[in-house]
Amino acid sequence: MAFAELKNDLILRAARGEKVERPPCWLMRQAGRYLPEYHKVKDGRDFFETCRDAEIASEITIQPIDHFDGLIDAAIIFSDILVIPQAMGMDVQMIDKVGPRFVDPLRIPNDLNRVNFNCDVSKELDWAFKAITLTREKLNGRVPLLGFCGAPWTLMCYMIEGGGTKIFRFVKEWIFKYPNESKKLLQGITDVAIEFLALQVKAGAQMLQIFESWGGELSCDDFDKFSLPYLNQIVEKVPLRLKELGINEKIPMTVFAKGSWYALDKLCNSNYDVVSLDWLFKPEDAVKINNNRVTLQGNLDPCVMYGSKEIITQEVERMIKGFGGGKGNYIVNFGHGTHPFMDPEQIRFFLQECHRMGSQ
Ligand code: CP3
Repeated sequence: MAFAELKNDLILRAARGEKVERPPCWLMRQAGRYLPEYHKVKDGRDFFETCRDAEIASEITIQPIDHFDGLIDAAIIFSDILVIPQAMGMDVQMIDKVGPRFVDPLRIPNDLNRVNFNCDVSKELDWAFKAITLTREKLNGRVPLLGFCGAPWTLMCYMIEGGGTKIFRFVKEWIFKYPNESKKLLQGITDVAIEFLALQVKAGAQMLQIFESWGGELSCDDFDKFSLPYLNQIVEKVPLRLKELGINEKIPMTVFAKGSWYALDKLCNSNYDVVSLDWLFKPEDAVKINNNRVTLQGNLDPCVMYGSKEIITQEVERMIKGFGGGKGNYIVNFGHGTHPFMDPEQIRFFLQECHRMGSQ
């Protein structure tokens, strides 16, 4: 399959650790509810139905690229991390103003019998690959297209809790009462994630991000048992699977382990090309710990968008200076996703300031 040549490969160069003219910019959850044009296209449809419609998903993916014309250096495919549990046979709904809900979450080890560990990823998630290919075609080389998936621990949290939670009662019960069954589930998710990521690349994704959104719910020791080994397997095995698929090109991979500040050194030592940071880090400290091993991504508190223009300018300056000026080893992002209530004009101002200060 031949796609148009990239006109903007800034993020790929930054991920490879090359010197760049300014830091590439993109935002987690850059497509979605804060953009009026998202609601227009979604038109009251069910969320997962929207993801599965390649025409609509590709349009929504490209909306922020058009909206902030020239200010965003990557598109991320419009989908969700919960499509892996769906592929493994679980029924997940997205309830308006509530969030995801699993109809029948896993509560006891015997429930693992209901999980399809041998699911056919190419078949179950075939809609995702179609959306990626169509989006890559429509992007016509404007910016690279990112693929993604949820990390095993984070997906295990959702599969057992059945939705959002503040106390993680059920999933913690699993890791402390049934550690072996927990590891069986984590390994099963890992195997599916590896196949899913490799097939996303085959379909047209040019860089990959793994979201460990609930990393910070684990203690440092438990992160080493229930998160890190699986994150490492993913980064080690995706390139091997790509080789089997006849893809020898190096695809940059990013890991985002929200809240797992204690793991920065270990993540920098892994094979990931990029480590994405939440706003708990002082950039200078992260740069020191990293010591040029990976490219760092992040890390502004997205809520700065609720502040004044003066504060946005100040915070952008603090961030970009803290990450060494942005001419290498750095990708601009928030420390977590955009919110539905954000004003796109504040985000535009933020991106403009990142371009201005990152070019100096
Ligand atoms: O623009 C992009 O970043 C690409 C698309 C994307 C979505 N979800 C779209 C979405 C990506 C990369 C995700 C990842 C995702 N999904 C994560 C990891 C990142 C993070 O936020 O930590 C997680 C934990 C989920 C699970 C999820 N999906 C939740 C908890 C929710 C509901 C909460 C909320 O924000 O309302 C979703 C729904 C979801 N995923 C929406 C979007 C645009 C909102 C659905 C809607 O339109 O009603």
